[in-house]
Amino acid sequence: MRIGIVGVTGLVGRTFLEALPVYGFESAEVFGAASSRSVGISIPFRSGSLKVESIEVLLQRRLDIVFFSAGAGVSREWALRFVEAGAVVIDNSSAWRLEPQVPLIVPEVNPHAIGEARLIANPNCSTIQLVTVLAPLARAFGLERVVVSTYQAVSGTGQRAIAQLMAEREGQSSHPSPYPHPIDLNCLPQCDVFDEEGYTREEWKIIRESRKILELPDLAITATAVRVPVLVGHSESVNVTLQRDFTIEAVREVLAQAPGVVLQDEPDRSFYPMPRFVGGQNEVFVGRLRRDTSHPRGLNLWIVADNLRKGAATNALQIAQHIRQS
Ligand SMILES: NC(=O)c1ccc[n+]([C@@H]2O[C@H](COP(=O)([O-])OP(=O)(O)OC[C@H]3O[C@@H](n4cnc5c(N)ncnc54)[C@H](OP(=O)(O)O)[C@@H]3O)[C@@H](O)[C@H]2O)c1
Repeated sequence: MRIGIVGVTGLVGRTFLEALPVYGFESAEVFGAASSRSVGISIPFRSGSLKVESIEVLLQRRLDIVFFSAGAGVSREWALRFVEAGAVVIDNSSAWRLEPQVPLIVPEVNPHAIGEARLIANPNCSTIQLVTVLAPLARAFGLERVVVSTYQAVSGTGQRAIAQLMAEREGQSSHPSPYPHPIDLNCLPQCDVFDEEGYTREEWKIIRESRKILELPDLAITATAVRVPVLVGHSESVNVTLQRDFTIEAVREVLAQAPGVVLQDEPDRSFYPMPRFVGGQNEVFVGRLRRDTSHPRGLNLWIVADNLRKGAATNALQIAQHIRQS
C-alpha cells in the first residue's frame, strides 16, 4: 500500500501521520507533499522522519490512496490528476463535497455511497460529528428538524490560527490574524465569510452536507457557527425535533449502541463531553441528553469531537480502510 498526503505539514496532514496505525496502515509506504515553502524539509514520522516533496513529484509516485488536506484550490487543481494516475483520492477540502457524482462519506452513516468512486469527499469537521449522532436518531425515531449551534476550536482554521491564539495569549498583537477580531477571551459568531442571507459559509456547509450524507434532501436544519478560544475539539449544542415519540431512555440506548459514538451523560457527577478531553480521540462524544420541554418531541444534546481526528484524518482513514476491505 502506497499512501500520499497532500498538505502533510499542516494540522490535518500531521494528524494523518499520527493516526495511520490505528486504521491498519502501519506498514504502508507514505509520501507527503506541501507547498513550495516546505519542499525538502523533514518532519517527524514513525521512529524517523518524512521528507516533504512537491506535489509534482508526489504525482509520479504510483500511489494507491492519496489524502488531500491543503485547501480547496489545491484539491480542485490536483485531485483528478491523481485519480487519472491510478490513485483513489480522499479529499478533506470543500472542493467536491456537494458535487452530485462525488460521494460525501461518514463511514458510520453512509458507507454504501462509496460504490466504485475513485474520488471521495470527506465532510466538514462540524458536519461529521453532527451526522454521526443524528443518523442513529434518524433511523430510530425520524428527524423532523435540527437546530445546531457550534463552539469551534481554532485548529479548525489551520495552524496559523493556533499561532494567532498563542500570540494573543502572550500579549502580542502583530501576528496577521485569520480572524476579524481577537479570538482569545472571545467568541466570534463568524466562521468564514457571510453571504447575502447573513449565513456564513461554515453554516451552509453544515446544512447542505448533513442533508447529503443523511440522504434527507429536505431536512429542516439550521446552524449558527461560532469560533471559541479552544485549541482542539469542536462542541455543538443540538436541538432536534424527532418525528416519533421517544423516551430519554430509548434515546440513550440508541446512542449507546451507535457506531463511533461514546455516551458521556452523568450530569449528577458533572460527567459530559468537553473539548479539553477529546484531543487525540477518534470517536464522537455525546451527553446532556434531555427533553426539550418546549416541544413534545424535542430533544437536546451536546456533541463534542476532535476536529482534526474524527473531523478530518480519522474519518478519511476510515474511508480508506473501508475501500481496502471491500
Ligand atoms: N483543521 C481542521 O479541523 C480541518 C477539518 C476538516 C477539514 N479541514 C481541511 O483540511 C485542509 C487543511 O487544513 P489544516 O487545518 O491542516 O490547514 P493548515 O494547518 O493551514 O495546513 C495547510 C497545508 O496545506 C499545504 N499547502 C498550502 N498551500 C499549498 C499548495 N499550494 N500546494 C501544496 N500544499 C499546500 C500547507 O503546506 P505548507 O506547510 O508548506 O504551507 C500545509 O501542509 C483544508 O482544506 C481544511 O479545510 C481541516
